[in-house]
Amino acid sequence: MSKRVYIFDTTLRDGEQSPGASMNTAEKLRIAMQLEKLGVDMIEAGFPAASDGDFEAVSKISERIKNAGIAALARTSKSDIDRAWEAIRTAARPRIHTFIATSDIHMKYKLNMDRKEVINKAVEAVKYAVSLTGDVEFSAEDGSRSDRDFLCKVFEAVIEAGATTVNLPDTVGYAIPSEFYDLVKYVIDHTPNIGKAVLSIHCHNDLGLATANTLSAIAAGAGQAEVTINGIGERAGNASLEEVVMSLNTRPNYLFASANIKTEYIYPTSRLVSMITGITVQPNKAIVGANAFLHEAGIHQDGVLKNPMTYEIMKPETIGLNASKLILGKHSGRHALRSRLKDLGYDLSDDELKLVFTKFKELADKKKNIVDEDLEVLVTEGILRTADTFRLEYLHVISGTTILPMASVKLSLNGRSVQGAAYGNGPIDSAFKTIASLTGTNSELLRFSVSAITGGTDAQGEVTVRLGENGLIALGRGADPDIITASAKAYINGLNRLEYLKNHPQTTPDIL
Ligand code: KIV
Ligand code: ZN
Repeated sequence: MSKRVYIFDTTLRDGEQSPGASMNTAEKLRIAMQLEKLGVDMIEAGFPAASDGDFEAVSKISERIKNAGIAALARTSKSDIDRAWEAIRTAARPRIHTFIATSDIHMKYKLNMDRKEVINKAVEAVKYAVSLTGDVEFSAEDGSRSDRDFLCKVFEAVIEAGATTVNLPDTVGYAIPSEFYDLVKYVIDHTPNIGKAVLSIHCHNDLGLATANTLSAIAAGAGQAEVTINGIGERAGNASLEEVVMSLNTRPNYLFASANIKTEYIYPTSRLVSMITGITVQPNKAIVGANAFLHEAGIHQDGVLKNPMTYEIMKPETIGLNASKLILGKHSGRHALRSRLKDLGYDLSDDELKLVFTKFKELADKKKNIVDEDLEVLVTEGILRTADTFRLEYLHVISGTTILPMASVKLSLNGRSVQGAAYGNGPIDSAFKTIASLTGTNSELLRFSVSAITGGTDAQGEVTVRLGENGLIALGRGADPDIITASAKAYINGLNRLEYLKNHPQTTPDIL
């Protein structure tokens, strides 16, 4: 008999804690809508007390999403819980998620509290949250390094206070699968009222064991898995949704557990999160990496041709990777575009489609075959970035072996056009210098990388930059058949993200 495991997605909260991955409200809303389509049970939409931006995003997501629960994170203070509740109160299924650390090291050095104080604070917070909503989750931060009996005592007390989910996080990614299995079993066996709540787990990937630990915990009896798309998250990230779900799906007779996820949306969701956050997926990443279904060795190719299951344990179509990609071109109409975008998971409004169609025609003039990856770029750049402060209107560069490279650029700054020119060491340097001077920004370029989105010499170049300014870090991403233009777009995207961070400062200390 297969047991149901609830999928709690924290891409928009813990995932957003990946360095440089901050997203604006429109971007978060778009991801939330995709997560709803994917069928996750709960979307952790943010930490409303952390910043006004987080509050706004959680509120908007709560108003919009009807087929998934919406959780908001809060420390154990009344003000955090009030802020969380205010943000999610319009949600169809709101959940307050409150947390406090329970390990000796965190209690002593971070909280400066003893065990009794921590238990009291946890109970008080849960009781208060329960007075606002019936769905309350409590997390024992650094649970995997906490004293086992104390952990059980905390869980027993918060369940008694009304918590309906208790979460055991491996906050610092320290656990080993067999050890984590034992811990989950111990908690189940030594928390007398555990049957009144769902036991959840939340694993970080510092030792590369987040998925393994999550699966071990599920095998031991955990009923909710906290995960992120592409495994993004604080430091080395969190357990990845696609790995956990596809493991359950591929090995039903071993794990005897299943999640209610529409797996065919996994790949489009992975691409969307990567496009929006600017965090690229490593090619050899399990399930969603570019190489995950490629077979290089001749003997493998031969086997796959005879029977795909010789070397493929999953079908690419199961995760929404369409083997027979439809290629669009300049004669393709609006209807074909809408239908392909729909297949890719993008349900656009008429106005949005109009915008993307114009961009599509422009691209089709430069590039004969437009493939899925090109369409994703058009949607991300055409729709999701419409609220940007800075926007590229025009770029012209002169460069060559015997000339001093120079760029002239026209930008829109909050709707006002400005233009200028500058020399540089190369065309990209001159474009960046001009943009920095026009925007009056002073960021440091920490990383720059360029790759091709698809094969072929007419492929779009994809540039990713990492920018730093006064302790703030932002990633930027841009794509274009011309890599200088792609670089300028990536740089401007990074500057827009920095601008967003400057305007939405975090008001709380960083949390794990
Ligand atoms: O890693 C962690 O402990 C967390 C908690 C807030 C659940 O993210
Ligand atoms: Zn975490």
